[in-house]
Amino acid sequence: MNSHIQIFDTTLRDGEQTPGVNFSFDERLKIAKQLEKWGVDIIEAGFPASSTGSFKSVEAISQALTTTAVCGLARCVKKDIDAVYEATKSAAKPRIHVFIATSPIHRDSKLLMSKEQVIASIKEHVSYAKNYFDVVQFSPEDATRTELPFLIECVQTAVDAGASVINIPDTVGFSYPKEYGEIFKTLQDSIKTDHDVIYSAHCHDDLGLAVANSMAAIENGAKRIEGTLNGIGERAGNTALEEVALGLYVRQDHYGNQTKINLAETKQTSDLIARFAGLRVPRNKAIVGQNAFSHESGIHQDGVLKNPETYEIMTPQLVGVKTTELPLGKLSGKHAFSEKLIALGYDVNPEEQKALFKQFKIIADKKKAVTDRDIHALIQGTEHEQNAIYKVETLQLQFVSNGLQSAVVVIKDQDGNTSQDSSIGTGSIVAIYNAIDRIFNRETELIDYRIDSVTEGTDAQAEVHVQIKINDQIVTGVGIDHDILLASCKSYVEAHAKYVAHSTTEEGMHS
Ligand code: KIV
Ligand code: ZN
Repeated sequence: MNSHIQIFDTTLRDGEQTPGVNFSFDERLKIAKQLEKWGVDIIEAGFPASSTGSFKSVEAISQALTTTAVCGLARCVKKDIDAVYEATKSAAKPRIHVFIATSPIHRDSKLLMSKEQVIASIKEHVSYAKNYFDVVQFSPEDATRTELPFLIECVQTAVDAGASVINIPDTVGFSYPKEYGEIFKTLQDSIKTDHDVIYSAHCHDDLGLAVANSMAAIENGAKRIEGTLNGIGERAGNTALEEVALGLYVRQDHYGNQTKINLAETKQTSDLIARFAGLRVPRNKAIVGQNAFSHESGIHQDGVLKNPETYEIMTPQLVGVKTTELPLGKLSGKHAFSEKLIALGYDVNPEEQKALFKQFKIIADKKKAVTDRDIHALIQGTEHEQNAIYKVETLQLQFVSNGLQSAVVVIKDQDGNTSQDSSIGTGSIVAIYNAIDRIFNRETELIDYRIDSVTEGTDAQAEVHVQIKINDQIVTGVGIDHDILLASCKSYVEAHAKYVAHSTTEEGMHS
C-alpha cells in the first residue's frame, strides 16, 4: 500500500459545482495540466454522463495527462459507468468513482429507495464497474448522516463487490473532527476484507470544518484526501487542498505523513484556478491569500526583520509566493519580457509572444512600472480573447450629465461577422449592457458586478467580473482593460458568449 497521503483533486467536478463557475473546455485542460504539475495523485475530471461537454473534457484530459490518474464520477447507473469507461479509456491510469446516497433523508426523500434496495444497487453497480476498472472508488453520499450500522453494511457490500477505495463524504458539512475521525476508525475496525482498502475523506465546509475534519480523518487512518484548490465548490465549498498539503508539511512532527504535492507550484495553481473560476481568493485566505505572508504591525515587522521565524511558520518561497520582483517598464525589450514570462511560469510560443509583447508595450506606455500582476492580467486578458466566440469590436458612448446615457456596441463572431445595436440607460454601464442584451436578443438579470484594480495606483488596469442569469442559468464573464467601461463591456459579452457555448454542449443532466 502507498504510505503517502494521496491527494484527489475534484476542482473540475465538485469545484465546478460552485454557482456561476463554468470552466470552458480549454480552461479545464489547462487546469488539469497544472494540477498534474502540482503533483496531485488523482484528478476527478468530471461527470461524463451529465453532459457532452463534461464527457469531452474528461476524454481530452485522459489523453493529455501522462502520470496522474484520471477519474470520472458515476451514479449507481450502468450508463453512467459506461460513460466513465468510454471517457477515461485512454488515460494512463483510468479510475471510476461510483456513488449512491445512503442517509435516511436521502433514501426517503430523494431516492425513494429502501435500505435493501440501496444495498442491492451498490452490489450490482460496484461489481459492474469492477469489470472495466482495476481500481473502483465507492462513496456512500451523505455518509456522516447515515446510521452507523447501515453505513458499515454499505461499505462492506462495496468492498465485497471489489471497491478498493472507500470515500466517506460529509456531503453537507455537518460533522465535527472527533465524530468524523471516529467513523474512519470504526470502518477500519469493522470491515472484513482480503484485499487492500484505502479510506478517503471528502468534506464540505458548511460549518468551516472541512480542513479540520480532513485532518482528523488522517489521524484516524485515512490515506486519501479529496478537495479543491482554494476550497471552491458547492455552497461553502470543499476542503482546501493547499491547506491540507501545507498542514501535513509544516506539522510533520504530528502527522508523520506527507503528500507528493510540489509545494512550490501551489501559488501558481491557486492563481490559475481563481482566474478561470472568476472567484477572487480572500486576502486573508490561508497559504494563498494576498496577506498570508505580510506583516502589518510594527512589532511583527521588527520581529520578522530580525528573524522571519518569529512570525512565519513557513516561507512564502515554499509555496511559490514571490516577495521581491523586478517590474518591467517602457524601456524593457523583448528579451526581458520573454525572461519574465518564463519566470512567471508561462510557456508561450514565439508567435503568441510577439502579440503579447505588442500589448505589453501599450501598457508600458500608460504605466510607469509593469508589475507581475499586470503581466498575469495581460495573459489572462489574452486567454479570454483567444477563447472568445464573440469579441468587442467597437464601443461608442455618449455621456450627458443629469441625463440618460447612450451606448453603441459592435461585436464580432469567430467567422468575422459583426452585429451591432444601441441603447440608452440610467448610467453608462446600464446603457452598454442594454445594448448587448439587444444584440443577443435575450432577457438577462445582473446578479453581480465587481471591479478590481489589477495593481495599486490611478494608472492600474481594471478587471471587471460580471455574473448574469439567462434562462435560469448563471454565467460569468471577465473583462480586463485600462478603461473601466470597455472592461465592463468585454466582461458582459464574455458572459453572453459562455451562455451560447454552454447551451450548445451541455444538454444532459446534472448531479
Ligand atoms: O459531497 C458529496 O457527497 C459528493 C459525492 C458525489 C462524493 O461530492
Ligand atoms: Zn462533494
